[in-house]
Amino acid sequence: MVARTAAPGSASWDEILTGEAATMALGAALATAGLSRGAVYLAGELGTGKTTLVRGFLRAAGVTGTIRSPTFTLVEEYRVGASTVGHYDLYRLSDPEELEFLGLRDHLGADALLFFEWPERGAGVLPRPNLDIRFEYAETALGTDARRVWCTGRGSGMRALVERVRRGFDRYHPTS
Ligand SMILES: Nc1ncnc2c1ncn2[C@@H]1O[C@H](COP(=O)(O)OP(=O)(O)O)[C@@H](O)[C@H]1O
Ligand SMILES: [Mg+2]
Repeated sequence: MVARTAAPGSASWDEILTGEAATMALGAALATAGLSRGAVYLAGELGTGKTTLVRGFLRAAGVTGTIRSPTFTLVEEYRVGASTVGHYDLYRLSDPEELEFLGLRDHLGADALLFFEWPERGAGVLPRPNLDIRFEYAETALGTDARRVWCTGRGSGMRALVERVRRGFDRYHPTS
């Protein structure tokens, strides 16, 4: 069950993801499309698939070890080729100023790729998003557990990346 609203080339695109594998596949599609730098905001309630998307990205980018949710550590760091990927979960952050102690400044200086779950909790301190991904609970017409996801690229490079991901998903759903 697939729904799309965006015309080819537009900045924003939405998709129904049916099952965890589809969320993993979207993460993988971001890697395949060349996502390697910038700030990615992952917004949505607890349990909507934010961590799952990052896991799909990291696996596709070649990370083979354990991929832990940063639920308690607030940040997990990975090396992907020559670059650094930071995966933040700010749900338990009590003050945006704490980001200083989590090494955010080093990450920004390193020109890394940074994923932020609960970015609203880091308001005023986080870099602006280059890519916004928003998740909501959804279900298919048959009642299957699913998610709706909106991807919005900011700036021409990220808009082009979202368009490549959208086209990748046409192949993921060949019958739609
Ligand atoms: N598209 C999907 N459809 C149904 N379940 C999903 C989907 N994507 C992820 N899930 C499941 O939702 C649960 C929560 O995922 P998680 O990534 O930890 O959410 P979050 O990080 O947003 O709290 C997991 O059990 C995961 O398997
Ligand atoms: Mg999470």
